[in-house]
Amino acid sequence: MSKQNNKNDFISITDLSVKETWQILFFAKKLKEELKKTGSNKTILQNKTLAMIFEKPSLRTRISFEAGMTQLGGHAIYLSPNDIGIRKTEWERESVSDTAKVVSTMTDMIMARTYSHDTIKKLALSSDIPVINGLSDLEHPCQILADLMTIWETKGKLKGLTIGYVGDGENNVTHSLVLASTMLGMNFKCGSPNKFWMKKEIVDKAIKIAKNNSYIKQTIDPEEAVKETDVVITDTWISMGDEEEKIKRVQIFQPYQVNKKLMHYAKKDAIFMHCLPAYRNHEVTSEVIDGPQSVVLQEAENRLHVQKALMCYLLKVIK
Ligand code: CP
Ligand code: NVA
Repeated sequence: MSKQNNKNDFISITDLSVKETWQILFFAKKLKEELKKTGSNKTILQNKTLAMIFEKPSLRTRISFEAGMTQLGGHAIYLSPNDIGIRKTEWERESVSDTAKVVSTMTDMIMARTYSHDTIKKLALSSDIPVINGLSDLEHPCQILADLMTIWETKGKLKGLTIGYVGDGENNVTHSLVLASTMLGMNFKCGSPNKFWMKKEIVDKAIKIAKNNSYIKQTIDPEEAVKETDVVITDTWISMGDEEEKIKRVQIFQPYQVNKKLMHYAKKDAIFMHCLPAYRNHEVTSEVIDGPQSVVLQEAENRLHVQKALMCYLLKVIK
């Protein structure tokens, strides 16, 4: 676990060791089962407050953290750019470090969704309380915890599986996914157009932490990327912040659409995943995302369970 000022942060998926990742997944499973069976969880985060800083819109991240805190007996505060104005230009309202220091005096944990990954890192450096990355331009580690739980629930294991990702390789979801894959002993194939391959620094790190001889393969061929895979994953072609390139991207990524024909290259029992929000008939056809192989709603729901477990872990309620 990454440590700043003697507290735990979750900025990259690699801030968790393999052991810590499994501890969180097992605790998430327990919380999920308890919630389904009894309708509630124990109030283990009673009197705890989460500050949620959002520079970008969100459905899943916001409601899963907010509902998660409520279910654990705590409270979450939503802070939009209109509320606090984290400074990126000279006269915006407040610096990142002043924001972090003040929030640290009144709450127990920060979750932030920012444009720049550096903003999250600065928040973590200046705060005295744990900071969680709720999505930056570089990584989306909370999403990947939910993806791991979903794969584990449907396939019964992680180690030895092969993931096939198709679409924008150079985005937050892909980066956290490749890191988690090799760290947990899964192979990762990525099919993207030439200029949209995963960042080299991320691939190098993923190779360095690889377990179980897991491999990474990058290709421009979408069929090669999903061939014989256990899990097919895609994401939007236009991430938040990429809107200016919309027309260009829609054209370039068209051959990377996940449709029934492409799914045939994966194993027969392969599942289809997407972090959502999805743009039907762009990166994925309705037939696939609404079809029998799709687990996207289970994946979205699991955001709630893994994040509750993560918050308990960061606040040292589970060890
Ligand atoms: N998958 C995900 O992070 O969704 P939101 O952008 O709605 O939070
Ligand atoms: N890659 C997407 C993920 C959305 C949850 C984005 O950054 O917009």
